[in-house]
Amino acid sequence: MFQKLLVASLLFLGIQFVNAVPNATAYCDSTSGICYQGYTDPTLDITVGLTFPPVSTDGGANSTAFIAEIVAPVTYGWTGITVGGSMAYSLLFVLWPYEGEVILSPRWTTGYTQPTPYYGPIITMLPGTSVNSTSITASFLCENCTYWEGGAIGGGDLEGTQLIEYVANNDTEVFDPANYASNFTIHDVYGSFELNLADAHFSDFFSLL
Ligand code: HEM
Ligand SMILES: *[C@@H]1O[C@H](CO)[C@@H](O)[C@H](O)[C@H]1NC(C)=O
Ligand SMILES: *[C@@H]1O[C@H](CO)[C@@H](O)[C@H](O)[C@H]1NC(C)=O
Ligand SMILES: *[C@@H]1O[C@H](CO)[C@@H](O)[C@H](O)[C@H]1NC(C)=O
Ligand SMILES: *[C@@H]1O[C@H](CO)[C@@H](O)[C@H](O)[C@H]1NC(C)=O
Ligand SMILES: *[C@@H]1O[C@H](CO)[C@@H](O)[C@H](O)[C@H]1NC(C)=O
Ligand SMILES: *[C@@H]1O[C@H](CO)[C@@H](O)[C@H](O)[C@H]1NC(C)=O
Repeated sequence: MFQKLLVASLLFLGIQFVNAVPNATAYCDSTSGICYQGYTDPTLDITVGLTFPPVSTDGGANSTAFIAEIVAPVTYGWTGITVGGSMAYSLLFVLWPYEGEVILSPRWTTGYTQPTPYYGPIITMLPGTSVNSTSITASFLCENCTYWEGGAIGGGDLEGTQLIEYVANNDTEVFDPANYASNFTIHDVYGSFELNLADAHFSDFFSLL
């Protein structure tokens, strides 16, 4: 009886462990002063952070902006994130290094097929965007980005929760690295974390830009 219980509880723990998606935590960039909610994957060495302006409290429209930071090993062929919790019908961002510069490309697709460039997001690259001997870092203001064709961050609730997933192809270059619209081969690594949007509104959002 005891043994059966023990086996059952170990299985339970095992399943809990497999399903445990980490939560985002707060961190601030000491150079820009921008504070994010984000996560660093210790195995893949990918960091993703997001931050939003305060929600409207006077009944006026909410901002459609956020700032994102993505850091990945410079050796990866490409790295991407989805801010909608899936590959399909979501707003994707893909980045890769090219001649010491960061190429950042918003993408969208309807299924498990090559995501193509998505027009709508208005992107401003921010200081900190760089390529060095170890890492590629993209830091960007994204306007018109909290909803898109087929979805919205937090399911439309800017104080809800959102699964943020990241993928990369860790060894294969995109086909035409000079071209932001380049196609590429499927990811071979994956991870995710849970973002509580209620914690991700940064009062200094606009003043630090
Ligand atoms: C040619 C390019 C791509 C192909 C062929 C492709 C194909 C696929 C396939 C077949 C799966 C299912 C894997 C499985 O269930 O084991 C998948 C999952 C996924 N892909 Fe892609 N993918 C591509 C690019 C991307 C990009 C650029 C992103 C994000 C920036 C992305 C994000 C995801 C995510 C988050 C999942 C898991 C969640 C889900 O099922 O929606 N993919 N992809
Ligand atoms: C994430 O936060 C939620 C809500 O506070 C909590 O229930 C959950 O256990 C946390 N997950 C992890 C992996 O810490
Ligand atoms: C906002 O993005 C949508 C696509 O998600 C696009 O149709 C629309 O034209 C964009 N609006 C602006 C003002 O750029
Ligand atoms: C490269 O950039 C990353 C991320 O911005 C930083 O953590 C790292 O210290 C930099 N490495 C070098 C060698 O400058
Ligand atoms: C702004 O977003 C908050 C959080 O989702 C929501 O409660 C509020 O109704 C939104 N305001 C407007 C004008 O849509
Ligand atoms: C790339 O990912 C694959 C699949 O997870 C793994 O087998 C391989 O060791 C990784 N290679 C590098 C260079 O990280
Ligand atoms: C990239 O992939 C898309 C979708 O499959 C396709 O329509 C397009 O022609 C491809 N572009 C190139 C340059 O091969």
